[in-house]
Amino acid sequence: MKSFVVAISGASGSVYGLRLVGELLKSVDRVYLCVSRQAFFIMKTETGVDWTGGTESETEKKIQEYYSSGKVRYFSENNLAAPISSGSFPAGGMFVVPCSMKTLSGIAGGYANNLIERAADVALKEGRRLILSPREMPFNAIHLENMLRLARMGATIAPPVPAFYQRPESIDDIVDFVVGKLLDSSGLGHDLFRRWA
Ligand SMILES: Cc1cc2nc3c(=O)[nH]c(=O)nc-3n(C[C@H](O)[C@H](O)[C@H](O)COP(=O)(O)O)c2cc1C
Repeated sequence: MKSFVVAISGASGSVYGLRLVGELLKSVDRVYLCVSRQAFFIMKTETGVDWTGGTESETEKKIQEYYSSGKVRYFSENNLAAPISSGSFPAGGMFVVPCSMKTLSGIAGGYANNLIERAADVALKEGRRLILSPREMPFNAIHLENMLRLARMGATIAPPVPAFYQRPESIDDIVDFVVGKLLDSSGLGHDLFRRWA
């Protein structure tokens, strides 16, 4: 069974995480989603998608309705007993999109204090693909050092930086390009943009 973990943390750009889950659902059997408390707030502010309030299972229901799919499971960032917290649980890899500097730091330091940090720690220790999309501007030396540290451990650092050779005509085009590049990093196929030929 092909499955991926997706975490949406509290950086600007939750639209990328939202779109990524939608695309993954086309090609994998399960997506295990974790959204930080701050990400719920930013998502509501930036996209109007409101998954705030409710228990873990009520939130999962809202998310399944949003995607019209039962293939997406949701776990609260406080649920350190969730299956994705254990290396024995088989997941193909993990995305953190967008990745805040706070979550980046927690992963780089091995802090594992919430489910996002713990699941990323598991991906690293199990040698699974970990794709992080850190979003901040400008970066300070701490941010850059954390990225370098994680890159040296095998994580893919894929910030949401669009290219313009595709001649994007809308925000959707820009989001599709970034999400397509993230999917390229995971080895999963997509048809989100035309490739340079
Ligand atoms: C509207 C808004 C936008 C933010 N954008 C970013 C951002 O792009 N990058 C970042 O590192 N932090 C950003 N922050 C700050 C983080 O949300 C904050 O550091 C938080 O503790 C991150 O927690 P989390 O990683 O657990 O989600 C933003 C905060 C707000 C309110």
